[in-house]
This record gives sequence, C-alpha cells and structure tokens, in this order.
Amino acid sequence: MTAKEIRSAYLQFFENKKHHIVASAPIVVKDDPTLMFTNAGMNQFKDLFLGEAPIKYKRVADTQRCLRVSGKHNDLEEVGIDTYHHTMFEMLGNWSFGDYFKKEAIAWSWELLTEVYKIPKDKLYVSVFEGDEKEGLPQDTEAYELWKQYVPEDRIIFGNKKDNFWEMGDTGPCGPCSEIHVDCRPEYERAASSGKSLVNADHPQVIEIWNNVFMQFNRLKDGSLQPLSSNHVDTGMGFERLVRVLQNKASNYDTDVFQPLIQFIAQKAGIVYGAAEKTDIAMRVMADHIRAISFVIADGQLPANNKAGYVIRRILRRAVRYAYTFLDLKEPFLNQLVPVLAQQFKGVFDELSEQQDFVQKVVLEEEVSFLRTLATGIQRFENYTKKQGELLMSENAIDKEKSFEDPWVYSILKDQMVISGAFAFELNDTYGFPIDLTELMAREKNWLVDMEEYNIALLKQKERSRAATAVDTGDWVLVNPNLDVDFVGYDDFEVETQIIKYRKVSLKGKEQYQLVLSKTPFYAESGGQVGDAGRLEDHSRLFFVEVTDTKKENGLTVHYTDTLPEDLEGTFWAVIAKDQRLLSQDNHSATHLLHAALKKVLGVHVNQKGSLVNPDYLRFDFSHFAKITEEELAKIEHLVNQKVRENIPLKEQRDVPYEQALSSGVTALFGEKYGDFVRIITFDDHYSKELCGGTHVQATGQIGYFKITAESAVAAGVRRIEAITADKAEAFILDQNKEINELRALLKGNKDLKVAVSTLLEENAKLKKEADKAVVEQAANLKHEIVHHVKTINGINLIAAHVDLPHVDAVKNLAFAIKETVDNLFLVFTTNIDDKPGITVMLSDNLVTEKGFNASIIVRELAKDIQGGGGGQPFYATAGGKNKDGLPLVLLKAAEMVK
Ligand code: ALA
Repeated sequence: MTAKEIRSAYLQFFENKKHHIVASAPIVVKDDPTLMFTNAGMNQFKDLFLGEAPIKYKRVADTQRCLRVSGKHNDLEEVGIDTYHHTMFEMLGNWSFGDYFKKEAIAWSWELLTEVYKIPKDKLYVSVFEGDEKEGLPQDTEAYELWKQYVPEDRIIFGNKKDNFWEMGDTGPCGPCSEIHVDCRPEYERAASSGKSLVNADHPQVIEIWNNVFMQFNRLKDGSLQPLSSNHVDTGMGFERLVRVLQNKASNYDTDVFQPLIQFIAQKAGIVYGAAEKTDIAMRVMADHIRAISFVIADGQLPANNKAGYVIRRILRRAVRYAYTFLDLKEPFLNQLVPVLAQQFKGVFDELSEQQDFVQKVVLEEEVSFLRTLATGIQRFENYTKKQGELLMSENAIDKEKSFEDPWVYSILKDQMVISGAFAFELNDTYGFPIDLTELMAREKNWLVDMEEYNIALLKQKERSRAATAVDTGDWVLVNPNLDVDFVGYDDFEVETQIIKYRKVSLKGKEQYQLVLSKTPFYAESGGQVGDAGRLEDHSRLFFVEVTDTKKENGLTVHYTDTLPEDLEGTFWAVIAKDQRLLSQDNHSATHLLHAALKKVLGVHVNQKGSLVNPDYLRFDFSHFAKITEEELAKIEHLVNQKVRENIPLKEQRDVPYEQALSSGVTALFGEKYGDFVRIITFDDHYSKELCGGTHVQATGQIGYFKITAESAVAAGVRRIEAITADKAEAFILDQNKEINELRALLKGNKDLKVAVSTLLEENAKLKKEADKAVVEQAANLKHEIVHHVKTINGINLIAAHVDLPHVDAVKNLAFAIKETVDNLFLVFTTNIDDKPGITVMLSDNLVTEKGFNASIIVRELAKDIQGGGGGQPFYATAGGKNKDGLPLVLLKAAEMVK
C-alpha cells in the first residue's frame, strides 16, 4: 500500500464503524495557554473530555498534523539521529466521547492491524497499565482480559506510569493506556530471541505504533486526579511508523512519505542517501524539518524571536545548519523542498499547496538571513580563537597570578584550549548560532567549549524569561456547575447571569480571577478583535466588579477580574463597556472591507496573516510580495470609503453548515479551526463575505470614514496596513488640517504651501553653501596664523591653541590640514562650540610609531581639566567636557606634556 492508501484505509475503517471523519486542527494552537502546538490528535477535543462543550458526534476519527518540539512531549533532539522520531508527524486517531470504551477500542485496533493491514500477529506486542500505588490507581485488568482474547499472554506487557498512563500535559485529561508495538526485526532475529524485552527499550526495530488511551481523569494543578464525568477513548497511531511497518522498511525515512524529499536533497547535494551516517542524518533532518516548518507557516505562524515563532525559527536553523555543515549546501536550498512537499500533501492537507509560493518565500528569506548569521558567527568564532591564541602567546596571559582569575588561561595550563561558555552563549543568543555547531567547530580546532558555563548562562536566561512571564494558574472552583454556557453578545450588551466556575491566577505576583459565566455578553478576544471590558453589577447596580478583559480558552469564554463578586452563588448583571465595543466594531467591519479591497486591488493571492482590532485602530497583516505603492494605497482607501458611503447593511448568518458556507464563496482563513457550523458576515454579496465570529456594525455607514495611517513590511512576503475609522479618523483629518493652517500662518498666509516651502528650502541651501564657503575661508586664515605660531620643543612642533570655528567638522578639517604641512606635530586645539567645551589632539604618524605617543591617551588626560572624556585613534582623538573654564589649563598642560 502507498502512504495515501494506508491513510485512506484507516479513515475508511472507522467510517464503517460509524465514526464521523473530521479535518485536522491547525498545528498552531491559539486558545490553550498550556499548549503552543498541537501535540496529539486529542488536543482539539480537550473540552469534550472535560465536559466543557456539547458532544455533537460520539465517534470521531481523523489524521491530525502534530508537532512535538516543546513542552511535555519533546522529541527534537532525536529527530534525524534515529529513524523513527519526527518533529511534525501525522497522528491517526479514533475517539469515543462517552460512547464505546475498552472492549471496542481493543477489538477494532486488533482487527484493523491484523485483518485490514495484515500485520502478522506474531510481530505484535501489547502493553497494559500495571497500576500505581502512589496515585491510587489499580492495575488495568480489564484491558488485560480483553487483550487475552487476541494475544498470547507472553506478548502482553505490564507497563508503568511513564509508559502506560498518558497525560496531555502537566494538567488536563489523562488515563491508563494500552500501546501496540511491532517487532520489525528480520525473521531470523525474531526466531532467535523474543522481542518482549525490547519493547519500550529504544530499539530502532521494535517500535510503538499505536496508543489506546482510556480517558478517565483530569489532572489538576495540585497534582490530584479528578474523575471525568464519563469514560472516553482517545487513540493515536503514528502514521509514518505505520507506513514503514506496512512497507517493510527499516526506517520511516525509507517509505514513500520521506523518499521524495530525501531523493531531492540527495540529488541537489550530489551525495547518495545511504553513503555515510553523517550525510544521512543531515538529509533526514532536512526532510523531517521542512515538514514542520512548512505546515506551521501555512497555519499562520511566521518565524519570529519569541514563542511559537522562535520554536519554528530554531527548527529551520537546525535544518540549514545540518545542510551547511554536512552536505556542503551553502546557498539557500531548504525552500526548494516546499513544492515537493506541497505536491505530496495535495488532497490531504491542502493548506500547503494553496499557499505554496508564500511558504516558500518565507522559508527562503529565513534561510538567507540565517546563512548570513552563520557566516558572521563563524567569523566571530575565528576572531575569538585567534585573539585568545595571541593573548596566550603574550607574556601577560601566562602570568601565574592571572591564571587563577581567568578560567581560559587555567585551561591552557592543562594543555586544553577552551571556548568560554559565555562566548558560546553570546554566539547562540545574539547571533542565533546553534551550540552544537560551536562545539563542532571547536573540535575541529582541537578546542573544547566550556559547557558548564554555557549551561549556567542558558539556565539564567531561561529563569529571566520565566520570571518575566510567570503565571500561576489555580484549579477551577465550581460554583454553579450545572448551568449551560451561552454567549448573547451578538444581540445584547448586558444580561443577567451566574458564575459557573472561577479560578485564581497570579501573574508576576499580581492576583487576578478568571470567571466563567452562564450567560455572557462579553466577546472573548479572537479573530483579532480584542475582548470586551465591562462590569459585573449587583442588582442595586451600585456595587460592581470590573471585568478587565475577556479571553477564550478551549472555546470557553473567560472573564478577567481583579476581585470576586461578594455573592458568588447569586445572580448579577454582566454589562459590557458599550462605547469601547462599538469602536471595535467599526474597526472590525472596516477590516473586512479592507480585506476585500486588498484582494480587488492587489490580487487574490492576498491572504490574512494577522489582524488586530481594538477601539483605537485596526492592523491587518497579509501575504503580498511587494511594497504597496502610493497609488495602490489610494485606490484601496478609496474603495473602502466607497463601501462605507454605500451604507451596506450587515448580513449575519449564524449556524451555516461549513461545507455550504465554503461553496458559497466565503473567505476562510488558513490556520483557523472551524466547527461544523459557522457564522458568515457579509457586506454586499458581491463584495465581502467572511467566516467570522466577531462583532460588527449594523451598516457600513457607521464606520464614518476610513483612513490608512501606515503601510510597512512585517516579514518576508507579509505586509501590514494600519488604519483608523470613525471619530479617530475625523480627529486625524482635523489635526492635519490644523497643522496645515498653522504652517500657512507661519508662511505669512502664502496660499501655495508647496511653492512656499520649496522656495524656503532653496534659499536655505544657498545660504548654507555660502556659510560653508565662509567657514572654509575662516579656517584657511586660521591655519595660516596658527602655523606661524608653532613652538619647537625638544624637536617636537607644538601647536596649542583655542580655535573659534562654528562646527566640529571645520575643526577636524583644520587639524588634518595642519598635519599635512607641519612635521613632528603635536597639536592640541581647544574649542567651545555651542557652549560645549571640547579638545582635539592630532599627532604626526612618526610620533605615534616611533615614540609611542597615543592621542587617545593624551586626550583623556587633558579632558580631566574640563571634566570630560573622549578617545579616538592613536594619531587623532577628541574629547568633550562640562567645564569650559578648564580650557586654558588644557593648553598649558599640553605644553607641559611636550616638555
Ligand atoms: N493521545 C494519545 C497519544 O498521543 C493517543 O499518544
């Protein structure tokens, strides 16, 4: 079977078992603070397990793109070195939400593997949970008994909490699990020894392929396990491993999932895959990493310097670095894999083929900039080792006393050259230079890296950033747990409500509360629109708790407050800050009009890449490869304002089936997770139609006026437009008008501002030229005079004078001009330009080279008299100071020095 056939067979099998097939969620997670990337198929169903969202389908199956490079599940270091871990992988999964449990899950997984995929039964091992006394969890005898029907007992293994109790993260849904392992060793090896002891022992040929989790608990913040209201099944099968087993390969990379990429790389590098361990690893790293990089970018996350963006940047750099070092690919190349990958995933994850150009461009730009960084890093490394080497040769460095303070010198005494950890960290932190590359280059020179010091620096930095963002989230406290959640904010600004649950959060030491309400008019931040602020008012309307923000968490609307209402269990009014909300609405609707205008003026390649809508302004990021011209901007702005003036009424459709919405030509966003039913916001059926959960104006006229205030680049292939509407736009125009009127007044009522300003500029340029000429003349006269006053002391020609010139450049020119004419020159000028005392020192080269004079040192010494400091080169240096009364002293001291 090809990989495609294997994937289809899985989905088909579970469809036949009455499962609803759903789309993969985006790989980048937006509304779960405990997670950056989707790391398991079950992530998108977290709220179903926890009973926080209604269950629409009791049986679901899919293939989910996952990434395990951060947090609890992190495989990055293994990737490429071994043959069965990946950054991005597909997880085939089937779920039961309160429906079937262990019996069916076990029976079906056995049926699929042995009857559909026809894996020989004697290659399979299964594991069950042995129980855990500390957690108070019993052995999973139920699963054991069930497996016994299919598998001989000597192929069933009891596993501990680490292997057989699956948890999503530090908190969240979890439960005992049964894993299925395949022994892929050759026939004769299998005959010689049982694979049982190789299970879970990192054996490259005895690998886990499928995990069946029996979800029964929620792990709380305090570490305790809270039973879930019903039992669920969560399974995950590693697609790439399954393909490898079915295609009888020794490595995931030998399957048709990876070979197209590997062969493309091998051809480009001119090296055969399989030729050598080092080059093979590099090819695997590239083939693996480009998948993670491409899908993360396609799902809307661009490489950046923090959070998810930084993770992806690091993965990209790891790939480039392997290509650079081991495959000698020193030009950008990774990006060329994007089309190969996009082709492969057509019909599976179309996100990539639909944005192929964009993704490729982003990868290319990252590669170019990182290759530059690599070159700078290598140069810095060379300079460092050279300098340290020289230092070592000089007598200073082997000074015994110093050797105790300087770890580097200490090391050389033991015959080992060492790169300081601090330097390695600087290379990594400031220049994005991976530490393993530093180590590699050090080894090539027979040096070591002080990893202990490096790790301390790294740890310190981690602690700094943790302290800066430390959030301590308590467990939910249930108040009225049986109430349903209802968002009424599309229709109402206030509603009578009750608290379902709340929790305490401490953010950088500051305490806050998060509340979930039964009914709420508060819009939770999403789709770029900021969350509503407002109040929870008691019935007298006199006492209230301020809601500072509203955010979404796994679909739940969470209200942020600084205190709790006194009567937790009672009812009260939830009231949003209406004025703010209305301003946000203006900007949100304007964003839709802008999005459509961009597609019309620039082309349909424009896709939303980011959006911010708040009461003050709107910011819209989108894919486009060139700077937007003034003309285009004017057109875009005009088109939006035309639509504003048309006063198009809002058409809002709720609960439209997703497929129906798509076929009606609606704009959906990449990287968004849409449910089966969606909301469509339309302003003119032929103009703007978007899937959107945000709040909007009743008719476009309410936007009043739309004004673009900035256009810029955000990243490769991504432009940003900022704009304002309504009152803000009006104020902006009024301000500009006022400024122009003031300018007019300044220009004495001159009607044509452009002509008036141009004339001023011209006159100014002319005057400046004349002034410059005058200064040159003045300097020439000065030079003449000064040169006549040279004093010769001990063969040195001393010039010490106070010069009166209008700017520093003139002083500098004068000093250089004198240097041309006077030999053995020791020149000191004092100046007081714009009431700032200054000193200039100029020396003839021979005084520097032969006598060892140094203008920098001299100027610093002289500057003491004017309470200042400075520096420069050995033959020319300047200083500034605070005390102009010291200037005459400087000149006297200069003469003393020469004497
Ligand atoms: N959620 C389970 C896993 O990721 C199936 O292994």
